[in-house]
Amino acid sequence: MRKNIIAGNWKMNLTPSESKGLVNMLKDACEAAKCDVVFCVPYVDIDTVTKELEGCKNIAVGAQNLHFEDHGAYTGEVSADMLKEMGVKYVIIGHSERRQYFGETDETVNKKIKMALRKGLIPILCVGETLQMKDDGITIDHISIQIKRAFRGVDSEDVDRVIIAYEPIWAIGTGRTASAYQAEEVCAGIRAIIGDIYGDEIAENIRILYGGSMNSENCEELMAMPDIDGGLIGGASLKNDFNLIVNSVRE
Ligand code: 13P
Repeated sequence: MRKNIIAGNWKMNLTPSESKGLVNMLKDACEAAKCDVVFCVPYVDIDTVTKELEGCKNIAVGAQNLHFEDHGAYTGEVSADMLKEMGVKYVIIGHSERRQYFGETDETVNKKIKMALRKGLIPILCVGETLQMKDDGITIDHISIQIKRAFRGVDSEDVDRVIIAYEPIWAIGTGRTASAYQAEEVCAGIRAIIGDIYGDEIAENIRILYGGSMNSENCEELMAMPDIDGGLIGGASLKNDFNLIVNSVRE
């Protein structure tokens, strides 16, 4: 019912010329995949990657951030209209690295979600707990607050266009993955939170991804979980591993 989706988050890696090489290494496998595939690339790579992907129906281009205003005096920022005109379809919002290093808050996340939806971009909303929160047993409490604030004022007819990525901060770039059962427990919890706010039907339709040291070795176990509808992949999206991950996804 929910189509799986595998999204690569390239983070701050690859110049435009370098991005060509990676796209060409990945595009055949991604085009043949039985899931939706997204490459979330640095702004400066969008043009090159879009051109390299011309004619590929199964692979979309995503950005890693956007600004919450239409336009104006916001030096260094990029608007939704700019992304749309470049052919971008998806946008990551509220990644923990932006929350940690660039002052992203639940409030700016909320504004960005609304802007993305208003402009027809598909937001990939990232939520997740720190190691301390996990140890304190407040993972779901924390994520519940992040989700409620992110969706404040979002109309129910727009909600299932949002993709939620559960990314435990302690698992990002550390090689430490949440076990499939841990990840499933939180993803099922996220679905329940959406159900509480918007009802069961919307909760059933919304796609929830896992992210955090996902690779070709652990992806099948994670993807086999009923509430995990795909992955947001960092390090492994920059190499052949990504081909193996997309190939392992069943319908
Ligand atoms: P890694 O896969 O490198 O742990 O990164 C996950 C992530 O942050 C994706 O957004």
